[in-house]
Amino acid sequence: MALTTDIVNALSLLFHGEWREFIFRIRVHLQKIDLRNSYLAELQLPEERCHYYANSGGLHLAKVLDSLKITPQDAIVDFGSGKGGALITMSHYPFARIMGVEISPELVAIARRNLAKLGIANAEMRVSDATNFLDLDGYNYFYFFSPFPGHVMESVIRNISNSLVKAPRKVTIIYFNPEYHEAIVTNSPFVKVAELHHHALDYYIYTNRDGQKVSR
Ligand SMILES: C[S@@+](CC[C@H](N)C(=O)[O-])C[C@H]1O[C@@H](n2cnc3c(N)ncnc32)[C@H](O)[C@@H]1O
Repeated sequence: MALTTDIVNALSLLFHGEWREFIFRIRVHLQKIDLRNSYLAELQLPEERCHYYANSGGLHLAKVLDSLKITPQDAIVDFGSGKGGALITMSHYPFARIMGVEISPELVAIARRNLAKLGIANAEMRVSDATNFLDLDGYNYFYFFSPFPGHVMESVIRNISNSLVKAPRKVTIIYFNPEYHEAIVTNSPFVKVAELHHHALDYYIYTNRDGQKVSR
């Protein structure tokens, strides 16, 4: 059944002229890149701080990054980077630095294997709760795909806001599946500046209000 779905999806990609994604999926299959879902019980992660692992790398994230015109002056953190699917997509863009922060050491080990198999050397990862990752001043893009509940999101947004006070710059937040939108805009310098919809997928884009006035 899963194989049939994979074949139908692959044919649909070809039909829509999405060669880049088609070739990537073939590589994922042939090189046994592990991007399968992992659930909280198997990862032994606490439900009150964490959401489970699912991959958001690929075509739709690529379309979002295409629209943001990434340059070598940009650097990105994926909060809750899991098995590295989004990092793999980010590695195709000219970011100066790509950082994955992930609470599960098992997932970081899998991500490191995945990236090594694909020969990706421009992304690093830290095992850390997202709220404890404070080395934020050198980054201007932050990516979230449903990593954790609202109260954890609030702490991370507070950390990013504090970093902006220390190192003023324009920051862009990309939030895929933005169920805790309020945690980003409440008592923070961030406003939503765009909504991108690819098929049934929602991405919200935020920047800091005064970000346009400050160059990095
Ligand atoms: C939905 S997955 C997203 C994976 C990846 N960002 C992507 O888009 O392909 C969420 C990830 O966040 C991680 N996570 C959950 N709570 C976390 C926390 N408090 N700190 C860091 N990572 C966390 C989970 O282990 C999981 O790998």
